[in-house]
Amino acid sequence: MKDFVVFEDVSKYYRMGEQLIKAADQVSFTIDRGEFCVMVGPSGAGKTTILNMLGGMDACDSGLIRLDDCEVSKLNEKQLTDYRRHEVGFVSQFYNLVPNLTALENVELASEICHDPLDPKEVLDAVGLADRMHNFPAQLSGGEQQRVAIARALAKNPKILLCDEPTGALDYETGKNVLQLLQDSCRQTGKTVIVITHNQAITQMADRVIHLRSGRVARVEQNAKPLPVERIEW
Ligand SMILES: Nc1ncnc2c1ncn2[C@@H]1O[C@H](COP(=O)(O)OP(=O)(O)O)[C@@H](O)[C@H]1O
Ligand SMILES: [Mg+2]
Repeated sequence: MKDFVVFEDVSKYYRMGEQLIKAADQVSFTIDRGEFCVMVGPSGAGKTTILNMLGGMDACDSGLIRLDDCEVSKLNEKQLTDYRRHEVGFVSQFYNLVPNLTALENVELASEICHDPLDPKEVLDAVGLADRMHNFPAQLSGGEQQRVAIARALAKNPKILLCDEPTGALDYETGKNVLQLLQDSCRQTGKTVIVITHNQAITQMADRVIHLRSGRVARVEQNAKPLPVERIEW
């Protein structure tokens, strides 16, 4: 479906004393359903601000934000809570797992609050952790913990997966494996995925690349032939 995600003239300003910071400045773009989208730009470009507004974690000052048939920018606090709970899966560089729950229990915790969750064991199996389900986070490597975090987001069966620098805390090979998992989730289940990065090389794996600079969309590219992660070097 065309225009699954819509941003129309979205702005978000922060006032720091005398200074006005335009974290997002008249941002407009669209993303189709099932696309793998990479948002790229230097630190401070507004990437996290944009993702948080789409995820219902932060409100815009002006403009329109829509996900599928839901006008996110019009939701009240109560509606935003439901929206975050049911429609959005979120992955960041901080895995944010509950330390005294096993991998399986961490995923169950998320699926229990949703209408139409996937089976936590099946999702952990799909991310390659079938034999680590009963381990606690401290018994898992960084890459494995990130896989649990991704499984937790996917188990909610959300409309979209939002990933803010998902490889930020991982080494090169592990980071590549995690990106591969995200790309596979998109290709195999048709999930719409947005990955934020400051790494230009990663743009080669995307269907759509949104370049951000100083709170503005500098350029949007579409790749007819996105590469698998193993073909990308940086
Ligand atoms: N809560 C906040 N208060 C003040 N300034 C903020 C806040 N959040 C973000 N900013 C500023 O907005 C700009 C964009 O930040 P951010 O979206 O985090 O960029 P990125 O994720 O691309 O590094 C930066 O200049 C940042 O300092
Ligand atoms: Mg950021």
